[in-house]
Amino acid sequence: MSERTERMPSPRRHPMTDSTVLSVDDLTVTVGTRNGPVRAVAGVSWQVRPGETFALVGESGSGKSMTLLAATGLAPRAATVTGRVRLLDDELTALPDDRRRKLRGRHVGFVFQDPMTSLNPVLPVGRQVTEAAEEHLGLTRRAARDRAVELLELVGIPSAAGRVDAYPHQFSGGMRQRVAIAMALACEPDLLIADEPTTALDVTTQAQIIELVADLQARLGTAVVWVTHDLGVVAGIADTVAVMYGGRIVEQGPVDAVFDTPTHPYTRALLAARPDPSRRGEDLVAIPGSPPSPLDLPPGCAFWPRCPVRADPRCEHELPPLTPVGDGHTVRTFYRGEAG
Ligand SMILES: Nc1ncnc2c1ncn2[C@@H]1O[C@H](COP(=O)(O)OP(=O)(O)OP(=O)(O)O)[C@@H](O)[C@H]1O
Ligand SMILES: [Mg+2]
Repeated sequence: MSERTERMPSPRRHPMTDSTVLSVDDLTVTVGTRNGPVRAVAGVSWQVRPGETFALVGESGSGKSMTLLAATGLAPRAATVTGRVRLLDDELTALPDDRRRKLRGRHVGFVFQDPMTSLNPVLPVGRQVTEAAEEHLGLTRRAARDRAVELLELVGIPSAAGRVDAYPHQFSGGMRQRVAIAMALACEPDLLIADEPTTALDVTTQAQIIELVADLQARLGTAVVWVTHDLGVVAGIADTVAVMYGGRIVEQGPVDAVFDTPTHPYTRALLAARPDPSRRGEDLVAIPGSPPSPLDLPPGCAFWPRCPVRADPRCEHELPPLTPVGDGHTVRTFYRGEAG
């Protein structure tokens, strides 16, 4: 075996569960607040397979982060979570907290919008990158340091060996996000959850981070769940996309199908509101109105108050069922075609 092959992390195989890495089934999250219960996520189901990129999109407050936190056992204490979540061979929702924490640490890496959420400002980056790996993979301090340099190189930190003892504040925002990615990859996770990882970065750095994750994913076979507001990012990286509105998935499917034949009026509005580089300087088409308050969700389709179509009298009072409209493409609307 060449040195290069030896040093390169290899894709992990799960013969028993080759089909899904994470499977979320009918997940509902209700958070108790001073103003009453907030139903942040309602009956959400999706899966992600090895090497696949699953994108979760939707306006602020639509339940994207809460879906991922609840799915991985990280929902706030005040939250009641129902439904089933399977991570590889284990039904996470049936496990006690400590078992769940172990599995999460071993199989799931997280990257958040603000790298400082995951980085400790007073610890050298090298130590942080492999802290979890020392525990989960049983590395010695010496091996961990070598591994930290290797991971920092992998995510494109220049002169990694000389920077392993530097502190987060000595890195730029983009470099800190690379460190956070190295940290997330340290345990060779089967699943990488990236919640708005590039939102705080300039466009060039954003493109580099996206390319880095895609490259690592191709090399390591990692499944990726990517949360974003940016449909341009989705078009560039995702295999499958789920559009959330008011805590529910309103449209889901292969990214080409959803972009080429968007069916839900909300998806259509989102795509229409997308900045078009050829129309630079023109005003964006914003979706009129604001997202619903989770304290006061409409009884029917949550998008009804803002919907330009209102295709069916049932829209206002009846929740549309999730209906297949194509191969793996489902939609939660009564609307079925051209503007009504
Ligand atoms: N800790 C909490 N306590 C109470 N409610 C919460 C809490 N966290 C989130 N929520 C509520 O849950 C709903 C979903 O929030 P979530 O953070 O999942 O949205 P999001 O889609 O990730 O939005 P953003 O794009 O702004 O990150 C929101 O209405 C929010 O107010
Ligand atoms: Mg969020």
